[in-house]
Amino acid sequence: MKYEFPVTLNPNPGKKPSSEGLRFGTVFTDHMFTMDYDEGIGWHDGKIVPYGPISLDPAACCLHYGQEMFEGLKAYKTESGRVQLFRPYMNAKRTNRTNDRLCIPEIDEDLFVDAIKALVKVDQDWIPKGEGTALYIRPFIFATEPFLGVRQSKQYKFMVILSPVGPYFVNGLAPTKMYVEDVYVRAVKGGTGEAKCAGNYGGSLKAQEIAHQKGYEQILWLDGIHQKYIEEIGAANAFFVIGDEVVTSELNGSILPGITRDSIIALCKYKGYKVSERKISIDELEDAYKKGELREMFASGTAAIVSPVGELLYKGDVMVINNNEIGPVAKEMYDTIYGIQTGKIEDFMGWTEPVE
Ligand SMILES: Cc1ncc(COP(=O)(O)O)c(C=O)c1O
Repeated sequence: MKYEFPVTLNPNPGKKPSSEGLRFGTVFTDHMFTMDYDEGIGWHDGKIVPYGPISLDPAACCLHYGQEMFEGLKAYKTESGRVQLFRPYMNAKRTNRTNDRLCIPEIDEDLFVDAIKALVKVDQDWIPKGEGTALYIRPFIFATEPFLGVRQSKQYKFMVILSPVGPYFVNGLAPTKMYVEDVYVRAVKGGTGEAKCAGNYGGSLKAQEIAHQKGYEQILWLDGIHQKYIEEIGAANAFFVIGDEVVTSELNGSILPGITRDSIIALCKYKGYKVSERKISIDELEDAYKKGELREMFASGTAAIVSPVGELLYKGDVMVINNNEIGPVAKEMYDTIYGIQTGKIEDFMGWTEPVE
């Protein structure tokens, strides 16, 4: 089924930023999508309206008990002018898995994708053109019923906002420095680690603050029980090239199932790499490093696609990976995925979805 939504155009459109020096997530487009949910009625009144502040009852339960979820994906414009999304139905499916975990009502996958397409279409002139740029799409749902008490809300709002973005890391594909966190944990099996909910990120800020103070850009999280097995990175999944094996941690209930992760695994298989989803401990990693077998490490996620890791700090020991340079597997994955997203490479995996 195809959904359509009324549009109220913004009478005061904003100035589009230049693609040069575009930062991540600081500028927003002229419009936004909003839709309400009421128990007994379901999702209703989806519409596109001028971007602007919303009013919320101070007792809205998302503000007190964190019933909120969000997603992230990107739109691109190809040389021929086609506007396309990257695997949006994967985000729709993950939304419903998160919703289920947080007792937020399910949302029809076509409704989710059609709302995004309709908004991107209205604001398509905001899609930036420079290398490494895209239009970032942020769908989110939050509980709006005004009450104090821990139970699921009977009212929600689904919104989508758009932001023209440059590379997630200011230095683009330059390798980042990563701190292996051995005090705080991000998630445990049975918790909300595999859901994309706000609380997971609020709870990660303290560790990130400490890592920044030590001069490291990101956190590599270990498992919440043994603090031994590698889980994932701040807002990305982790990949390693050990000998001739491309390895990423298996999905264990506490790791977010990244869409870029899934895409890299599929591409590696397509290209004939030996790729494994398995448990990988920090000891195995140190061992491989000492033997000279740790050839590459990189983060994968929508924001940066692929971001090489040049240095790891674990309990005072520093590991410098691939001479602090981007490795061939990371480069190939970035070039292929970004190439498909921007239409520079034919979409041989069937991953793009046109906005028409
Ligand atoms: C915690 C976490 N892990 C992994 C990812 C990567 O997921 P994706 O590739 O779908 O962007 C993200 C970003 O969405 C994230 O926030």
